[in-house]
Amino acid sequence: MTARIFLNGRWLDAGEARVPVMDRGFLFGDGVYEVIPVYSRQAFRLEQHLARLQKSLDGIQLDNPYRLDEWIAFVTQLAREAEWEDQSIYIQVTRGPMAVRNHAFPQVVTPTVVLLAEPMTPPPASQRGQGIAAVSAADIRWLRCDLKTTSLLANCLLRQVAVAAGCVETVLFRDGFLTEGSASSIFVVKDGVLLAPIKNHLMLPGITYDVVLELAAQHGLPHEVRDVTEAETRAADELWMCSSTKEVLPIVTLDGRRVGCDGAPGPVFARMYDWYQEFKATVMRAAA
Ligand code: PDD
Repeated sequence: MTARIFLNGRWLDAGEARVPVMDRGFLFGDGVYEVIPVYSRQAFRLEQHLARLQKSLDGIQLDNPYRLDEWIAFVTQLAREAEWEDQSIYIQVTRGPMAVRNHAFPQVVTPTVVLLAEPMTPPPASQRGQGIAAVSAADIRWLRCDLKTTSLLANCLLRQVAVAAGCVETVLFRDGFLTEGSASSIFVVKDGVLLAPIKNHLMLPGITYDVVLELAAQHGLPHEVRDVTEAETRAADELWMCSSTKEVLPIVTLDGRRVGCDGAPGPVFARMYDWYQEFKATVMRAAA
């Protein structure tokens, strides 16, 4: 079966979908996106992802081209028809094409809307069992990291720092404080307390981040949402990264130094991992 792509209201075979060179998404990175995990053809936290899409659109002053029920219908159709049971559904909305290259918004905006599905494979068991290596870098991004925009060059450069060092993720610090990862949210565990940076303009309000904090509250795991310093991060007992596609993963080395005393995934991670899987299964059963 050929993968289907939604482009501006039409379902096309992947090879047929074309976007004009003058699209502002291509020339300026002028657009927003979402990545929605789908388990057994059920979109996980769909309404939260679509609410964040709305916030990102508002943040770049672009009218939402579709109503909520229309978005839900598109995602549901794609999840049902794509060839994989578990998928990550990608949505992108750009400010569309312009007649001549001009930074100012066009008078009449015709947004470009793309939806596509990709197979979603969980991180290898070795990453969960043995943990992953991360490096750190200064957070060189702009001051609206709360918007999920397609202008991702800084994130790509920062992720490449990890790749060049043979690591999985780059943990970002700004002015001595933890912000997030190049494409993930980061949590610290210290003395049995889960620490999460405050959602503000310096980080993406992660959907998985919310799930992790909800599970902590539900299971009575002590947690604090507050500024987390770089020193606290480096002295963590446990360090986790999380995102829609990776769920929650333990970071066991940061810049080549072991996290905690033994550099192995910690006991709090093991509990959170189980809670997360249990929660996913319950939600998916209820939706089926
Ligand atoms: N990225 N922070 C950044 C900068 C991210 O890019 C992501 C996810 C997250 C985690 O957000 P969520 O839990 O809502 O997936 C945090 C996605 C997966 C991506 O760009 O592919």
